[in-house]
Parts: sequence; structure tokens; C-alpha cells
Amino acid sequence: MQIVSYIIYLIASILFIFGIKKLGSPKTARQGNMLSSIGMLLAVVITLFDHMIITYEWIIAGLIIGSLIGSLMALKVQMTGMPQMVGLLNGFGGGASAVVALGEFFKVDTPNFEINIIITIVLSVLIGAVTFTGSFIAFGKLQGIVTGKVVKYPLQNTINVLLFVVVLAAGVFLIVDQTQIELLLGIVAVSLLLGVLLVLPIGGADMPVAVSLLNSYSGIAASMTGFVISNNMLIIAGALVGASGIILTLIMCRGMNRSLMNVVLGGWESAGAGGAAAGGGEQKPHKSIDSEELAMLFDSASSVVIVPGYGMAVAQAQHAIRDLANILESKGIKVRFAIHPVAGRMPGHMNVLLAEAQVSYDKLYALEDINDDFPNTDVVFVVGANDVVNPAARHDQASPIYGMPILNVDYSKTVIVNKRSMNVGYAGIDNELFYLDNTLMYFGDAKDAISKLVNEIKEL
Ligand code: TAP
Repeated sequence: MQIVSYIIYLIASILFIFGIKKLGSPKTARQGNMLSSIGMLLAVVITLFDHMIITYEWIIAGLIIGSLIGSLMALKVQMTGMPQMVGLLNGFGGGASAVVALGEFFKVDTPNFEINIIITIVLSVLIGAVTFTGSFIAFGKLQGIVTGKVVKYPLQNTINVLLFVVVLAAGVFLIVDQTQIELLLGIVAVSLLLGVLLVLPIGGADMPVAVSLLNSYSGIAASMTGFVISNNMLIIAGALVGASGIILTLIMCRGMNRSLMNVVLGGWESAGAGGAAAGGGEQKPHKSIDSEELAMLFDSASSVVIVPGYGMAVAQAQHAIRDLANILESKGIKVRFAIHPVAGRMPGHMNVLLAEAQVSYDKLYALEDINDDFPNTDVVFVVGANDVVNPAARHDQASPIYGMPILNVDYSKTVIVNKRSMNVGYAGIDNELFYLDNTLMYFGDAKDAISKLVNEIKEL
């Protein structure tokens, strides 16, 4: 039986590895998801046959309660609430790893684990507990329950380093004398506190990066727990989550031209709460356009690039955008989509929404593949995007987004910006694009405004 379970765990691990590889491209992402799901099903089924399971009642009760809560949460969550839901689930993952490691420790009357096992118990408890409370703070910040502001207090970093040293010292003492159970309880308590203190300083605006980092931690904790319970599959799956989480975190930082340290130490004050641009509230002159005029402008274009941003997600305007692309294409106009790596609030946010609306992925162009084409584009239609098209990133050294790669939409012949007002985006700064000669503002909720536009084009 043990050999069979080893082989099945190995197959499950291979399926995870191929699954995650296939997730790297939209073409194969569904297949990747399917492979990973089959791997997880195999792993769960074979684990249920484990001879160490004493009672199935608790497992079944947990399965039913967990599935009910999970399904309800997934059904109820708004698309814009996805980052906090992911954050919460990371927290549960970290917490579960810590609890399993604690369970292994307390299972025996007199703990006398091999050195490698006790080390991984300590690490699993430490990382799992930090992930647990850290993720709850991240959830609270994104949900508006905890302040989204950067929280700073005297000796902040010194206190954190000190607490970390205390946990490590307690870990070393526990490894030397495993009977000192109170040391492990102390590690749990201080790690839970560390999770809160590490995430609290990070501004609400940087929470997506923090959530991705915590996701990586939850993977590392799971991997450590895999060593504790001698489960190779958990080691591999945890390592995959840990590595992919950190890669994603770095991609997000690069997309914003920020260092991980800058994010973790609370670099950005603005919480992405929207609001008017700074500058005493006075409005600079800008030009606007209505749906009828815009329909005529599109009708005379031969190439259009659509740039979606966070506002498209808020308005759930992806289906209206697909209708717009279809009607323009039926008129012989070339339509492409330009996707900024950090448009929206999650990696791949725009791709997922456009895929949901059946927009073919070969029409989606990454920043580096389309940026040189803007000077040859007649109309760029920016839908609910703001920071990712702000030219200040190219030249204004005082701007918080200076150096962030942006979509050079201002180089095109005409730029249409659809949003509800002149309010700022995530970085909390004004956007000079809105005031350029070749920019026209098309105000309104993206879904309503684009549906109206599509109707106008139909009537031409
Ligand atoms: P933002 O700069 O956040 O701007 C979104 C704009 O959408 C707002 O200015 C808002 O203006 C508009 N909007 C909101 N609701 C709308 C609606 N119903 N209809 C039409 N427009 C609406 O978005 P972006 O350009 O996508 O940039 C993303 C930002 O998030 C970047 O600063 C990036 O660094 C940051 N970020 C992204 C990620 C990832 S991984 N994607 C992670 C961390 C941080 P109105 O209020 O006037 O409508």
C-alpha cells in the first residue's frame, strides 16, 4: 500500500509541475488547471486511505463545513473583492500548516524528534503563524476594516528584528531541549504578533503585492510541514507555491518599478482610494466627447487599440468591450488590446476578464509588443485605466510612479479616456494624459458608456 501511495503522490506531483507550466500561457491555462486539479484529487484520495487515519467522521464533517463556507464565499465575492479573498485563503493555508506541525509535536508524550524534523516543525509554525495573522491584516486592509494607511511608529524595524531574533532563539533552545513545550507556545504567540506587525506598515495600495508574498510564505510553510509529516508531495506542492508566489511578487514590483523592500517597508502612502487629484481641487482644462461624436470618430478610424484598466473590472464592462471590438471589426477596423502587466489589481486581472468575455487572446498584446505601435494607431480607447497610461512615469522624477513602464498611448493620433470623473487612480496622482491636445474624455461608467457607444455605432 505504501509503495502504491508513493507512486500516486509522485504522479500527483508531476501533474502539479506540468499544470503550473501550462498555466504560463492563456492557450494552455485551462489544461494546466485541469492537470493540477486531477493531481490534487489523486493526492486527496490516496491520503484518505492512509493507515494513520483513525476516524473519518471528523474529516467528513470538516469537508462538508469547509465546502459549504468556501462555496458561499466564492459565490458571493465580487470580482473586485477577489484580492482579499485570495488573501484570506492564503492565511488559512499558512494556519493549517502551522496546526499540522503543532499536531505532530503534541502527538507524542515526550518529544524526541530527529534534528531535521524538529527544525522543520519550528519553521512551519513560525512561517505558518506569520502568514495566518499577516493575511488577516491584508484582508482587513483591502476590505477597509483595518486602516489602509502606511502605519509607522518609532523603532518599528528594530522591534520586528528583535521579535524575529527572539523566535529564532526560542527555536534553537527547543531544538536542544524538546521537552520545553512552553518555548513552542511562545514561538506561536510571537509569530502571530510578527504577522500583524509585518503587514500593518504596508499601505493598502501595496496590499496585492503583500498578498502575493504571503501566498509564497503559505507555500513555504506547507513545504516545511511536508518534511514534518514525511509527505513528499506536500514538499513539492509547497515549494511550487512558494517559488511561484515569489516570482509573481517580483513581477509585480518590476511592473511598478519598485523594490520589494520599498513595498514591505511601507513605501507608498496613497491607499488607492480614488478621490480628486491633488492641487487644491481646481480643474485644469480638458476636452470631452459624447457618444454620438465618438461613434463617428471610431467609424473613420482604421486602427484602434483598447487599453483596459481597473475601471473595466469595477464596471464589469468586458462584455460591452467585446461587443465594441466586434462591431468595429465588422466595419473592417483593426482592433487590438494593450495589456499593462499591473493593470487592475491582480496579475492577469485584465486577461481573465477579457477571456471571460470570449475576447480571443491573440488580440491581446503585452506592453513590450505594442508600445512601438502607438504612433501608427488612429484611436486608443482607454477604459478605466489611469496610472498605467500616465506619461509622468516617463519624465517626472518627483512622481511616485516615475520609472514605471507605461503604455505610450499619448503617442497615438487620438486618445479617448473613459472614466467617471477626473479622479485619481491607485497611485493617487493626477494624470497629465487627460489634459493633452490629442486626448478626449468620455465620461461615464464603463459598461453603460460603452453600451451606449455600441448602439450609436450600430445606428451609423
Ligand atoms: P487605476 O490607476 O487604479 O485607475 C483606475 C481608474 O478607473 C480610476 O481612475 C477610476 O476613475 C476608473 N474607474 C473606476 N470605476 C470605474 C467605472 N465604473 N467605469 C469607468 N471607470 C472607472 O488603474 P490602472 O490604470 O489599471 O492601474 C493599476 C494600478 O494598480 C497601478 O498603479 C498599479 O501599480 C497598481 N497595482 C496593480 C497590481 C496588479 S498586479 N495589477 C498590483 C498592485 C498595484 P473614476 O473614479 O474617475 O471613474
